[in-house]
Amino acid sequence: MKRHLLMPAVFIIIVSLSAPGCMPAQKGPQKIKIGVSLPTQRDERWVRDAQTMREVAEKEGVDLRMQICDNDAARQMSQCENLLAEYVDILILAPHDASSASAIVDEAKAVGLKVISYDRLVMDADIDLYVSFDNFEVGRLQGQYLVDKVPKGNYIALAGAPTDNNAKLYRDGALSVIKPLADTGAIKIVMDQWVTDWQPTIAMNLVQNALTANDNRINAVLAPNDNTAGGVIQALAQAGLAGKVPVTGQDAEVTAAERIVNGTQAMTVYKDTKQQATEAILAAIKMVKGESVDTTSTVNNKKKDVPAILLKPVVVDKSNIDKVLIDSGFLKRSEVYR
Ligand code: BGC
Repeated sequence: MKRHLLMPAVFIIIVSLSAPGCMPAQKGPQKIKIGVSLPTQRDERWVRDAQTMREVAEKEGVDLRMQICDNDAARQMSQCENLLAEYVDILILAPHDASSASAIVDEAKAVGLKVISYDRLVMDADIDLYVSFDNFEVGRLQGQYLVDKVPKGNYIALAGAPTDNNAKLYRDGALSVIKPLADTGAIKIVMDQWVTDWQPTIAMNLVQNALTANDNRINAVLAPNDNTAGGVIQALAQAGLAGKVPVTGQDAEVTAAERIVNGTQAMTVYKDTKQQATEAILAAIKMVKGESVDTTSTVNNKKKDVPAILLKPVVVDKSNIDKVLIDSGFLKRSEVYR
């Protein structure tokens, strides 16, 4: 009886989700409609991604529908269902949870939409394109920077959110250079922890604990991104160690650039997210039109080799910050040198 009552609702959902695939004739004179689902706006980079996507969409004359799930996988699912119900022509998805987001891809594919996995890879899903960076290399650059500065001593190794495939790649990349020195005994990894949802306060608490447990004898901190680096440096500052212990980062956030200039953060990894966001929108437009997209490689997501556009990360420290971040126009001189 209950099952019977549910049927009309299920039917309506299926009909509304199938509509875009069934009515291609409607697309003709209408603007291309791109659905975008982003995980957060808590890190500055995602604010920039959103801004660039909107700018490029406007310039290209496409209709952009954007949703932010604020680190909530269930919310991302329902927001994406709403985008499908708005008859978007393609979905750009930066998953909060790399595994469960495969259900979103399944729903999009069921109504004939192509899906671009943006920055973070959706695992075990039939995605059509991946637009990101060489993320193992991002982590390798962070690790290499630390071992060059601190070839021996006590290390704290923090990784990003365990739900984010990128966090695994960053960690693998960094450990690929740190681990061999840990194996010889030169480096001692006194803490090795994931940071839930990339939260800076969690990073700060972890470092406070590690400082206490090791009588403040910490020589280097692998922080996976700039926001968590902020938390790490706050904890180091409380112990009078800010600027004395090299801390990594990534994203080239304004506050991180300031910290690099004033010496409390050693480096960041610059990823040109303006280029990344632009590539994603332009690829989406081509894919809706049925045109081919130039890719640089493929990345396996446990289901298939996904065609990918992978951009190159660049190390930034005090020595090249003006050239890489300011001269390129990514950040303003007045923001960095306040
Ligand atoms: C991105 C980083 C970002 C982090 C937290 C990762 O997937 O690649 O650039 O700092 O998420 O938002």
